[in-house]
Amino acid sequence: MEKSSIGLIGLAVMGQNIARNISRNHKISVYNRTASVTEDFLKEYESNMLVGETDLKAFVDSVASPRKIAIMVKAGKPVDMVIEGLLPLLDKGDTILDFGNSNYHDVIRREKELADKGFNFFGCGVSGGEEGALNGPSMMPGGNKAVWEDLRPIFESICAEDFDGGKCVTYLGENGAGLYVKMVHNGIEYGVMQMMAEAYETLTHAYGLNPGEIADIFEKYQTGKLQSYLFEISIPILRKKDESGKDFLLDKILDKAGQKGTGRWTALDSLDQGVALSVITEAVFARTVSSMKDKREVFSKLYDKPKPNFETPLEDFIVELEDALYAGMLVSYAQGFLLLKSAAEDKGWDFDYAEISRIWEGGCIIRAKILSTLHTAFGKNPQADLLEIPEIAKDLSDSLPNFRKVVGECMSNGMPLFCLSSALTSFEAMTNARGSANFIQGQRDFFGAHTFLRTDKEGVWHADWHEGGAITKVK
Ligand SMILES: NC(=O)c1ccc[n+]([C@@H]2O[C@H](COP(=O)([O-])OP(=O)(O)OC[C@H]3O[C@@H](n4cnc5c(N)ncnc54)[C@H](OP(=O)(O)O)[C@@H]3O)[C@@H](O)[C@H]2O)c1
Repeated sequence: MEKSSIGLIGLAVMGQNIARNISRNHKISVYNRTASVTEDFLKEYESNMLVGETDLKAFVDSVASPRKIAIMVKAGKPVDMVIEGLLPLLDKGDTILDFGNSNYHDVIRREKELADKGFNFFGCGVSGGEEGALNGPSMMPGGNKAVWEDLRPIFESICAEDFDGGKCVTYLGENGAGLYVKMVHNGIEYGVMQMMAEAYETLTHAYGLNPGEIADIFEKYQTGKLQSYLFEISIPILRKKDESGKDFLLDKILDKAGQKGTGRWTALDSLDQGVALSVITEAVFARTVSSMKDKREVFSKLYDKPKPNFETPLEDFIVELEDALYAGMLVSYAQGFLLLKSAAEDKGWDFDYAEISRIWEGGCIIRAKILSTLHTAFGKNPQADLLEIPEIAKDLSDSLPNFRKVVGECMSNGMPLFCLSSALTSFEAMTNARGSANFIQGQRDFFGAHTFLRTDKEGVWHADWHEGGAITKVK
């Protein structure tokens, strides 16, 4: 029997869909720890392009050499357990692919451990959820470049297409580069979702709109610069009625958001890298605060909130909010790309930011018109920071008056704006040539003799801050 081009371990929702996607063009063998899952899957999707095995050795033997075996199981320890079980059955030169949301530190470790033993390890971020896995995800691969050309035909046959019909996959680099980019992608997803939630909350509480009315506004946004998958799915979410057919389902969903950890990883990494990733970090905090439902219930009874009194007529506010969301998203992307740049320098990756924007144009959760803007911007200015690219600066400057107005009006009316306000603050600070850190330096020098630099003289200085005290050049 002809052997399969690739094998896949893990047949939960993502594995099943990616296996079905691959089987359209390549023969694939599948295996799942719980055998009945494999049997049920084969019964449902019987095809001569799908080979199912319930014995791990038979599964490995059914894949053509040098083997490519993808793992799509729960991230963390389970991936290491699967690798441990696989290695004795593989030959040197075989490649293990990790399609799950593994932490990039684990990917770097696995790449090294497997290379030392003569195997290749490829960590490939796959975004797009269940639907993307079946019909075309955005794929972010990283690993040994020598095997990339061998993997490429399979990846290009299953991934989504960008706005120009190109493939939403590109080789990103060695040592966890793929999963790093996927992690930042997920962080950006957190920020965008939170800004949209803030828009929803403002329209609900300040203007008293019901979800159906907000859906009409989001539908309008979907025809403009905010056009995106996340706005697209929000329209049916907002319009969905409960079982009675009368009430909106959204009004009955508990306001506690879950998280699997990739936003937190991105925020933690930004602290390690020394990059001010405030929007994504605030989005993680917003989910944390959302989970503190009991405390919020108690505290809400202790403090009076102003009754929202927005002076701006709704018709105008809708236009202003569109600008605020657009500007907030641009700032969040600017921060995300700063993190990618810092990591590239730190880890020796040679990221192509136009390519990263391009592969996010299709298939993934953050796919949006804005990515085409970023793709074009980085295409002309490959190594620039987003905020210094003229087209981005113009878009931001045009949106800025409304961005400031929306944040100001929301804050003065007691609306919590984790991400929109932090995006604006970040923008204001990053475009401030003279900030307030001279004051901090004065305090640090007073209590800890931490010294300071001066704008009028060379050298390192320390002052005796009491009246008449000396100001001394220490270096
Ligand atoms: N769901 C999404 O939208 C999405 C999107 C992008 C990426 N991802 C990532 O894709 C991966 C798969 O996600 P998923 O939602 O399809 O599945 P999942 O719920 O994360 O994991 C379930 C799968 O892992 C297997 N598994 C768990 N522990 C195992 C172990 N110790 N040894 C062997 N197999 C083990 C399970 O096998 P049994 O059937 O035997 O329990 C099952 O096949 C994850 O890393 C996830 O983070 C998910």
